[in-house]
Amino acid sequence: MSRRQIFAGNWKMYKNFDEARILVEGLIKNLKGNSEREYVIFPPAVYLQKIYDITKGSPVKIGIQNVYYKHEGAYTGEISIDMAKDCGCDYVLVGHSERRHIFGEENSEINMKLNAVLQEGLIPVLCIGELLEERENGRTEDVLRSQIYSAFEGMTPENALKTILAYEPVWAIGTGKVATPEIAKDAHITARKILNELYGDAVARSVSILYGGSVKPDNIEGLYVIDDIDGVLVGGASLDIDSFADICSVGN
Ligand code: PGA
Repeated sequence: MSRRQIFAGNWKMYKNFDEARILVEGLIKNLKGNSEREYVIFPPAVYLQKIYDITKGSPVKIGIQNVYYKHEGAYTGEISIDMAKDCGCDYVLVGHSERRHIFGEENSEINMKLNAVLQEGLIPVLCIGELLEERENGRTEDVLRSQIYSAFEGMTPENALKTILAYEPVWAIGTGKVATPEIAKDAHITARKILNELYGDAVARSVSILYGGSVKPDNIEGLYVIDDIDGVLVGGASLDIDSFADICSVGN
């Protein structure tokens, strides 16, 4: 069964609007069309509407880096899923490691966000991944199992199928230390095994799993050739037109 291939750029809290506009216009110009690939960028939320206006009709889709799971209410500073939809978003990052580890997002909140995003018809990209200390203590599989079990708790197989997973070892994010292809492959196989425990083989084999963590033009090739890796979630290297376009054109 063929899985969707996604090349995504998480801009985090970088770029002013002029820089963001130049970046997205450059990407649209430089990305080589490939009908099998989805290209997604996650700009800062305040620019979503304007960036959407630039991307409309191009192969580049947009997503939001975080949402709140409530429909509306007195939640100062938060953004609802409907608001993200209004700005043209198709995708939502859920449970990024910076949300988990800097802003203290718990698995239970991530479960609520994941369910809410699916209910509202957007595509969640659920991020999972272990800390260095957890890997060194041989706990990677336990951590991935607990993140996946809690995020998917109460979720139907139909909704599980609509979710995209991103394996992002925390020790590789923004550090320049990319996981070796072997490490990434093992973790992706483990994530699929865990999905299999929850939903059976057909679902486990159909869910796309992206790799994220210091992906660059010079290491994308080694990751791309691994069957279980269905695309990438790129941070730093997605802030530069040439490097993101290079990553997106791997194997083209
Ligand atoms: P990085 O970030 O590519 O800069 O390591 C990846 C991410 O945070 O998704």
